[in-house]
Amino acid sequence: MKSYEKLLENNKSWARESIEKDPEFFNRLKNTQTPEYLWIGCSDSRVPPDSITGTLPGEIFIHRNIANMVVNTDLNMLSVLQYSVEVLKVKHIIVCGHYGCGGVKAAMTNSSLGIIDKWLRNIKDVHRFNREEVDAIENEDEKIDRMIELNVKEQVMNLSKTSIVQRAWKNSNAPDIHGWVYGLNNGLIKPIFELKAGTHIDPLYEYDNL
Ligand code: CO
Repeated sequence: MKSYEKLLENNKSWARESIEKDPEFFNRLKNTQTPEYLWIGCSDSRVPPDSITGTLPGEIFIHRNIANMVVNTDLNMLSVLQYSVEVLKVKHIIVCGHYGCGGVKAAMTNSSLGIIDKWLRNIKDVHRFNREEVDAIENEDEKIDRMIELNVKEQVMNLSKTSIVQRAWKNSNAPDIHGWVYGLNNGLIKPIFELKAGTHIDPLYEYDNL
């Protein structure tokens, strides 16, 4: 059997077992989804949102990219954000990074890696905003881990700077935004930062005509 064929076999078993456990499972999901959460995570194969949070199909709306970034010109991310906030009305947005993130590591080197340089440059900005703190850490792994936490925090802030989130905060006092970091070594998620709906952000970024 070719390796990818195994996936199709697994899929058949999964579908069968899902129905055995809950005969209405697919019937309930086929026409509608009402997820409470938007997840913005890293593409890393070791951080699968459903498995690590014990959630089922229908529970999390997911966007993933390298190093769980919220880049304000990223039409893909913005479309996911708008749809999940304005149509699905998610109650929580979770930005989940992970320790040992290769994207953050790469952004802390001076190697050019091709087109991904342009993406990673957004992480270099996070380093620049926090230069004193990050550069004072001598241990290389600890330095990267701290950058991973600071990057998650920055992406949470970036969400709050969007008119999509600010309008939702004003109109429906939701969603709350959470910054988490997952440990590859122990499987545990560490909450590190939170912005409750309606939090006042830097006035430079606050729109007053939404
Ligand atoms: Co990563």
